[in-house]
Amino acid sequence: MKVEQLTCSIGAELTGVHLADAIRDDRLFADIRAALLEHRVLFLRDQDITRAEHVAFARRFGELEDHPVAGSDPEHPGLVRIYKNPEQPNDRYENAWHADATWREAPQFGAVLRCVECPPVGGDTMWANMALAYEKLPGHVKAQIAGLRARHSIEASFGAAMPVEKRLALKAQYPDAEHPVVRTHPETGEKVLFVSAFTTHFTNYHTPERVRYGQDANPGAGDLLRYLMSQAYIPEYQVRWRWKPNSVAIWDNRSTQHYAVMDYPPCHRKMERAGIIGDKPY
Ligand code: SIN
Repeated sequence: MKVEQLTCSIGAELTGVHLADAIRDDRLFADIRAALLEHRVLFLRDQDITRAEHVAFARRFGELEDHPVAGSDPEHPGLVRIYKNPEQPNDRYENAWHADATWREAPQFGAVLRCVECPPVGGDTMWANMALAYEKLPGHVKAQIAGLRARHSIEASFGAAMPVEKRLALKAQYPDAEHPVVRTHPETGEKVLFVSAFTTHFTNYHTPERVRYGQDANPGAGDLLRYLMSQAYIPEYQVRWRWKPNSVAIWDNRSTQHYAVMDYPPCHRKMERAGIIGDKPY
């Protein structure tokens, strides 16, 4: 297996490897897992694997989960279909910087995404290194956000365009989660900036130290949250990947965010994602 870095910050392309082999080959899988920890997102071309192989490879990292709104392949639970077509122009939640499923108590460990069909041009995906984003924050901002916690909501994202009853039912089943604004990566010990498009507000900002009068709470909290969320937009922290059919990306959802660029309508784009269950952030 050859590992070629794509930027100085994040991302590497693997060549000389077929993911189906890593289902049974422990050594190969260990090498891929180590490369994932080091580079945060791995890219591979020409992975002509079956859906069953896709699922079996992803399951080497851990159990998979379905998505409550996006459907899964009926024969392969855990393989979420991210299919976009011109008939559903408003179905677009991936073109916002996010880590997957942070609205869960235990957001995903990572994911394995395969391109089934892509537009002739456009439809790239971008990833950002959120450990680097935290590391590069000015010291006074790091001090300001130490100990802060924030709410993450499926209701306010996937639920927003639903009729109110359906939205409230979604929220009842998947109540908002609360996470630290700076999480610790459970394997590397790095600090990671952990707010994204699913984050609605800080839950412990309004203390006497920060808020003398109500006017201090807002825009103070809103501005700070927007500033933190905007760190993912910094090109120096990013890598951008151009898809072809059978290209695969594997990412560490604990230390990255991603953004699927929606610049291809009226073309079709079909992706299949195996999302791996993760731990509760601390
Ligand atoms: C996702 O947001 O998990 C999917 C990314 C993509 O479709 O490129």
